[in-house]
Amino acid sequence: STANVAVLVGSLRKDSFNRRMALALAEMARGTLDLQLIGIGALPLYNQDLDATPPPEWTAFRDAVKACDALLFVTPEYNRSVPGVLKNALDVGSRPYGHSVWGGKPGAVISVSPGAIGGFGANHHLRQSLVFLDVPTMAQPEAYLGGAGSLFDAQGHIANEATRGFMQKFLDAYTAWVALQRKSA
Ligand code: FNR
Repeated sequence: STANVAVLVGSLRKDSFNRRMALALAEMARGTLDLQLIGIGALPLYNQDLDATPPPEWTAFRDAVKACDALLFVTPEYNRSVPGVLKNALDVGSRPYGHSVWGGKPGAVISVSPGAIGGFGANHHLRQSLVFLDVPTMAQPEAYLGGAGSLFDAQGHIANEATRGFMQKFLDAYTAWVALQRKSA
């Protein structure tokens, strides 16, 4: 069956390049993977004191992630690391202790930046957390997308043919990765 993928975008900005990339990929993957963007902007900051009486936003988020087969992270880089809003979502999903929603779900990471380094720092800091959270994360191909200002056309499609081809390869590899992990689960 078509895998349901929870897509977490590390930017809350309306015109986010990362959100655009996530939406472009959802369209490219249609029929192969069901990519669903899951909101993280309304999650109260994680506070262990609230574990016993979790805010409803935490519970809804945890349930939404639990219902998905796989994870796709599309994130900008803030100060060479993961934006706080995305790290907060990881933290919220990881608790209460022993009840993390992340473990075992196959994942992949894409970083998008207007800069030339393509969010490498955020991409790898995120991977560090995913190792601990037991998310089997696809190693290759890596996706550090720079020059985000010219990545998209007016309709939000990936404008450049080479980049579109690369992202199709990424999606093909990710589809195979998800299928392999689900088979061995
Ligand atoms: C940035 N930006 C940025 N870019 C980068 O390549 N490396 C970095 O370390 C940072 N640091 C950073 C910190 C903060 C607080 C902001 C607001 C921005 C620029 C960033 O890549 C740019 O704003 C992107 O457009 C953000 O991604 P979205 O919102 O377009 O998806």
